[in-house]
Amino acid sequence: MSSKNKANRLLLLLSTLLLLVLGACNTESASDSNEDTDQKLRSNPDQIYVGFVLDTLREERWYRDKEAFEGAVRELGAEVKTLAANGNQQVQIQQAQLLINEGVDVLVVVPTDADGASEIVTLAHAAGVKVISYDRLIRGADLDYYLSFDNVKVGELQAQEIVNRVDQGTFAYVGGSETDNNAILFREGAMNVLKPFIDSGAINLVYDNYTENWEPERARDQLASFLASNSVQLDAVVAANDGTAGGVVEALGARAGEVEVSGQDAELAGVRRVAEGTQTMTVYKSIVLIAERAAELAIQVASGEEITTESTVNNGQADIPSILLEPIAVTAENIRETIIKEGHLSESDIYGE
Ligand code: GAL
Repeated sequence: MSSKNKANRLLLLLSTLLLLVLGACNTESASDSNEDTDQKLRSNPDQIYVGFVLDTLREERWYRDKEAFEGAVRELGAEVKTLAANGNQQVQIQQAQLLINEGVDVLVVVPTDADGASEIVTLAHAAGVKVISYDRLIRGADLDYYLSFDNVKVGELQAQEIVNRVDQGTFAYVGGSETDNNAILFREGAMNVLKPFIDSGAINLVYDNYTENWEPERARDQLASFLASNSVQLDAVVAANDGTAGGVVEALGARAGEVEVSGQDAELAGVRRVAEGTQTMTVYKSIVLIAERAAELAIQVASGEEITTESTVNNGQADIPSILLEPIAVTAENIRETIIKEGHLSESDIYGE
């Protein structure tokens, strides 16, 4: 492990410990009198107070979600606080508890662990707080609402762009975190497209792995060690997002650009790779759209409104009222008509001045 990695790990460990200690202190002080604590911790008790609980802020997309969501909530006249658990489900539960103790009116959660986060719903409901699952589904809980994109379609778009270019040969699938319900759906979508080719023998899927915590370095190291110990020449890699795609492109080394690689999130590094040709595509899921929709929903829910949604998604416990937005495939050909046109990234961000 490099000294930079060691330092990062140490920093993560220290911040996790600090959060746990803070969480414990806060639970104690809040248990005396909830009302009293509310008054002390909320800057304005008359304003709606929204808690946003993120899995991580280590990826560009979630930083953008935080900015867009907080901005939209404030625009609607409410107060908001965001906490991020950096991939640790126990920390996430502590953070949710902290916000509940502070008297949030509604919790918006991007779960680290789809099943583990059901505890957050239990804790929130015990305090009369409703929970909205943001982008990722919380499973096995009486969740109140789910707002996301059509995630099976994301996986289909990824594999489809690849097979449009190469529909035979040696393929790898590099998935996301297995504890993230989306990672399961992305893979399901990709396999919907790949299966007929695999069944006919046109595509040989030689590698198929999830990536713990969606870590790009882990995606890189896992694929690199597979390539080092197997004499295969990959034609394509369906990677579940831009982070893992970055790891894949590094693992491919000198062959980057010859191998089709998918991605997702329209992160700056990913879109630049699409523009320069080392990544085939990314999937654009408008962060502004989901963040603004989530802010509206959060305010409605906090105000006690009953919201009817067009669809429901079963999370293993119940049919959860759900809003599913449309993802868009982005290739080198349509970068301008999609993410630049929508103002997600600028021409100079991507292509330089
Ligand atoms: C997924 C999300 C993706 C990607 C990934 C890694 O749940 O839908 O957009 O960001 O997490 O954080």
